[in-house]
Formats: sequence, C-alpha cells, structure tokens
Amino acid sequence: MVEAFFGFKKTPFGDSPDPKQLFPSQAWNQVKARLQFLVDHRGAGLITGEVGSGKSTAARSFTAGLNPNLFKVMYLHWTPGSALDLLRQVALELDLEPAHFRGDLARQISQAIVRLNQSKKQHPLLICDEAQLLCHPALEQLPLLLNFDMDSSRYLTLLLVGQPLLRRTLSLQMHEPLRQRIAVQYHLEGLSREELDAHLAHQLKAAGVTQPLFDDTARQALYQATKGILRKVNKLALTALRLAAARKAHQVGEAILLDATTEAML
Ligand SMILES: Nc1ncnc2c1ncn2[C@@H]1O[C@H](COP(=O)(O)OP(=O)(O)OP(=O)(O)O)[C@@H](O)[C@H]1O
Ligand SMILES: [Mg+2]
Repeated sequence: MVEAFFGFKKTPFGDSPDPKQLFPSQAWNQVKARLQFLVDHRGAGLITGEVGSGKSTAARSFTAGLNPNLFKVMYLHWTPGSALDLLRQVALELDLEPAHFRGDLARQISQAIVRLNQSKKQHPLLICDEAQLLCHPALEQLPLLLNFDMDSSRYLTLLLVGQPLLRRTLSLQMHEPLRQRIAVQYHLEGLSREELDAHLAHQLKAAGVTQPLFDDTARQALYQATKGILRKVNKLALTALRLAAARKAHQVGEAILLDATTEAML
C-alpha cells in the first residue's frame, strides 16, 4: 500500500537495509576509521551507543568488507552464560570440538588461533555483541585470549560492542587488564538535526523517490521524538508514511508525524 501510493521501488526505512542504503553519518565514518586502525594494528576495540544507534550494523557492515582470506570473523551475538560458555562458543566458531574443562578449552582455543595466523595466514577477529550482558568472569577471560604466555604477538583481535552499561562495567578495577588493552573506542550518538534531513533524503532516494515526503515541521518533530537514534528514526518515518498513505496525503506534516509517534510507541 505505502509502496504503491508513493511509488517506491523498494520499502524505505527497512530493518535490514542493504549495505549501499546505509547512511554514511559522521559517527559512522569515525567508527569505520577506528575499526580500520584496529584490524591494521590488532588488539581490542570498544563500540558503545544507545539502544538502536547502529552499533551492530556498523560492526557488521565493516567486517563484511574484510577479505575473508585474510580475516576470520567470529561474531558472538549473545553470551549471557559463564566464562566456560563464552569459551565454548569461541571454540565452536573456530570449528573445534570444545574440550570439557576450562583450562583444556583455553589451551585448545589458543592453539587454534596461533595455527590460523601461522598456517592459514588468516587473522581471527572476535566480535562480542551485546557485551554489556557478559558476566564479570567472562569479561575477565578475554584478556587471557589476547595474550598467550611467553609471547607478545597479537594473534587475536577483539571487538566489544554494547550499550552504555558496558562502559560502566569496564571502569571497574577488576577489568583493568581488559581496559588497558583497548586501543580504539567510540560512543555512537544519534544523528544530528542536519544529518537526519540527509538520512531521510538518502533513504527515499534509495527507494526511488526524490521529492521530499516530510515537510519542515514533520522533520523537526521526527528529530524531537527520536534524537536521531536510527532505529527510532526509521520506525517512525515508515509509520508516518504508512499513515499518510492511508489518509491519501502526499506529504507527511506535523499532525501525521505526531500520530505516528503514538502508533510507533515512541
Ligand atoms: N547507517 C545506517 N543507515 C541506515 N540505517 C541504519 C544505519 N545504522 C543502523 N541503521 C538501522 O538502525 C536500526 C538499528 O541498528 P542496530 O541494530 O545496528 O542498532 P544497535 O545499536 O546495535 O541496537 P541494539 O542496542 O538494540 O543492539 C537497524 O534497523 C538498522 O538497519
Ligand atoms: Mg545491536
């Protein structure tokens, strides 16, 4: 309905936009530069941001551009269990049959990581998304994966991605070993007011429409309701377009936008 009414070739503001449709915000460029430094120099990195600010999308779209012959990307999305659970998941990502005991498992993983680097010339990049949910013992395990005894080579690159709580957790004394190893970090905020306008135009253009479908008052209200947080922006913009189509309005004004804010539960 919304597609036919506005003449979209594909639905704008979708949940999983194709990488070409992603908006290159200033923050995204900052994240990209840091992730590039991280994979060039290795070590650990940290990306935090509010819920829906685009952390996972940034990590995923960056790693999608890495040469799979040179990098083995291991993406752990949710690891709420013990340190042993975390190690088991890493072992599975490395195509290992996880050993039963923690010491054996850690040794098994270290050996596999060194083998990958030395024999296959492939560098492993471990991404722990939703890392604010990792328990303290699991976080304490991570520095041990980064350095092996008697050897200072960087065989593994680690990227922690999580909500702001993760920063507070990492500031605890017990996590100093991990904190000291973090070479790059960035906190993602929402889009600026100007970027929000550019993002709307970018999404509509990618969907095949070049005329502005949101008037000035609607764009201002959209910014106020979302503070530029991408998931909220996309959800609210699409809800507003849907309401406009149902009301046969060819442009979204403030009234439709405010109704959409209620409908989108923002
Ligand atoms: N650069 C971008 N351009 C367009 N849409 C984007 C961009 N970055 C993220 N999005 C969209 O915003 C939504 C939220 O992104 P994402 O899931 O990456 O956020 P998150 O910070 O990981 O959220 P959570 O805290 O819930 O894990 C997704 O629907 C995604 O498609
Ligand atoms: Mg996420």
